[in-house]
Amino acid sequence: MGKVFVFDHPLIQHKLSYIRDKKTGTKEFRELVDEIATLMAFEITRDLPLEEVEVETPVGVAKTKILSGKKLGVIPILRAGLGMVDGILKLIPAAKVGHIGLYRDPKTLKPVEYYVKLPSDVEERDFIVVDPMLATGGSAVEAIECLKKRGAKNIRFMCLVAAPEGVKAMEEAHPDVDIYIAALDEKLNDHGYIVPGLGDAGDRLFGTK
Ligand code: URA
Repeated sequence: MGKVFVFDHPLIQHKLSYIRDKKTGTKEFRELVDEIATLMAFEITRDLPLEEVEVETPVGVAKTKILSGKKLGVIPILRAGLGMVDGILKLIPAAKVGHIGLYRDPKTLKPVEYYVKLPSDVEERDFIVVDPMLATGGSAVEAIECLKKRGAKNIRFMCLVAAPEGVKAMEEAHPDVDIYIAALDEKLNDHGYIVPGLGDAGDRLFGTK
């Protein structure tokens, strides 16, 4: 079973409180999502493999460590996931970025892929799929399915706010995928919004309504 990690670092919780506030405008919302994504990227990269190197300092030789060059990919689910990409790339600038766009079929209500563009070496990369909200879990489950179909083997999912319903759906569909969240909220309402949540993350990021 995949694990669920709640990143409750004080800075993340503080910034999350501001993006939840309905009075927070687009510019500030976007900046805060970017900052939270950076802080979460710091936590999620904690287990990146290192290798030992020797470095000549001005005083002697240090036996020290550098990243061993694991290939990473960041996959935002369009469109709200885009708001988290730059914040993550600040810490892992060499990561490749793929995109997955999904829409909900009005008849079946199931998510359908309309755009998928991934790095060519999918099988060799570890992926972080990002979307600010894990609500019903429909999009996240489908996006990860889409990555697996194309050969991805090591996938994590990172979001800001999750509903228990979305976490359950992910655990059932993808027990191999660990989930990283900043807050686990109470529930979904009848319109599929997370309560208390922060509203529509895409609209708040891009100033649309
Ligand atoms: N998507 C959002 O942007 N907000 C929610 O509360 C649920 C899904």
